[in-house]
Amino acid sequence: YKRVTTKSLIEMKAHGEKISMLTAYDFTMAKIVDTAGVDVILVGDSASNVMAGHETTLPITLDQMIYHASSVVRATNRALVVVDLPFGSYQSDPKEALRSSIRIMKESGAHALKLEGGSEIKDSIKKILNAGIPVMGHLGLTPQSIYKFGSYTVRAKEEEEADKLIEDAKMLERVGCFGVVLEKIPAKLAQKVAESISIPVIGIGAGGGVDGQVLVIHDMLGMNNEFSPRFLRRYMNLYEGMTTAIGKYVEDVKSKDFPNEKEQY
Ligand code: KIV
Ligand code: NA
Repeated sequence: YKRVTTKSLIEMKAHGEKISMLTAYDFTMAKIVDTAGVDVILVGDSASNVMAGHETTLPITLDQMIYHASSVVRATNRALVVVDLPFGSYQSDPKEALRSSIRIMKESGAHALKLEGGSEIKDSIKKILNAGIPVMGHLGLTPQSIYKFGSYTVRAKEEEEADKLIEDAKMLERVGCFGVVLEKIPAKLAQKVAESISIPVIGIGAGGGVDGQVLVIHDMLGMNNEFSPRFLRRYMNLYEGMTTAIGKYVEDVKSKDFPNEKEQY
């Protein structure tokens, strides 16, 4: 396989080819996602919710992100692996941001990083980029700021917030980011952003007018019955499929159907 690079993503946008991105947090899942042909694997801090069962993304640590990221990197041949800088690992100052970034790159072997925020973290983004580390931005709904927002509803519906978002996206392009994630904003605004910058805009709940899409793998496989936002398309109902399979196993053990003559030594 030829590895997807940050350069090839920018070329894909230029050629009008949409970019596919999914999260993964472990070796087995990442191997499946990579083999299926996904362009970008995001080791998202959504691992805090999906892997660890926390209510928000805030508790996950840098060490835990590195553990997830290194597992994913070992599984991939083709996809570009992007890792989230977790809450608390980059907000203090640019030096801390660079230190955390270097740890992820060195200890996991990841190819790029993603940080939430715009103008507030501009100096940190520049510092990381100066070290030769590719950076992806993340604007709109930024879950690390959930306690500032108060809820997970659609962002940038008002003009003031929309204008700042457009300015932030242009700034991210100007300083040298290779892409931007836009989460849960009006489709019209997201398309406007995608049309005003030449780096790829990857949307989640941001409509079809952007350059690519990202979903949390457990959500799109239907492993999680409780989470049903409008933007989510479920490609499987693994919750039901797995519950049925596991229930059958329990039944077979209890009834002594498993193991049979051929399933033993
Ligand atoms: O952590 C995550 O899964 C993300 C995506 C939803 C973009 O940041
Ligand atoms: Na994230």
